[in-house]
Amino acid sequence: MTEAPPPLEAGRYRVALICLGNICRSPTADVVLTDRLAAAGLGEVVEVVSAGTGDWHVGEAMDRRSAALLTREGYDPTRHRAQQVRTDWLANVDLLLEMDRQNLADLQALGPATPERLRLFRDFDPEGTGEDVPDPWHGGESGFVDVLTMVERTADQLVERLRSVVGT
Ligand code: 4NP
Repeated sequence: MTEAPPPLEAGRYRVALICLGNICRSPTADVVLTDRLAAAGLGEVVEVVSAGTGDWHVGEAMDRRSAALLTREGYDPTRHRAQQVRTDWLANVDLLLEMDRQNLADLQALGPATPERLRLFRDFDPEGTGEDVPDPWHGGESGFVDVLTMVERTADQLVERLRSVVGT
């Protein structure tokens, strides 16, 4: 069973969700995880951010296909603006979750970070543990639906793991 690493600082926990462009996968995971944490009463303790390894979309809103799907499913995607990952997060974020192996390799290349804090998002997926979240950007609608399905069930498991380490 995958555990979340202990907090760097008692009473708060920071999770960063990382993909390539920060307009499809990691912002989808950000919106869903933030929603689930609030529902679990952990919204004040666990802070969620997302970012891309690339800088092409910095400042942009979410991809309109991801945003439309989230809206249809009852989430609010409108607050997102893309940003690029910051190297100082490596030492100051409790858990950096990468959407795929390339994102993980890129984060590892950025600088030293504890392996237990630098992990694949789907290490927390109760189905298909350790797989990539496939990049839906070049594909059709079904890729976006698949991403949301795996993100929702992974977020549910992640909330339980976070609850254990923040002790609430
Ligand atoms: P994301 O998807 O990493 O899930 O946000 C992508 C968005 C943009 C690009 C690639 C993937 N791009 O090449 O611009």
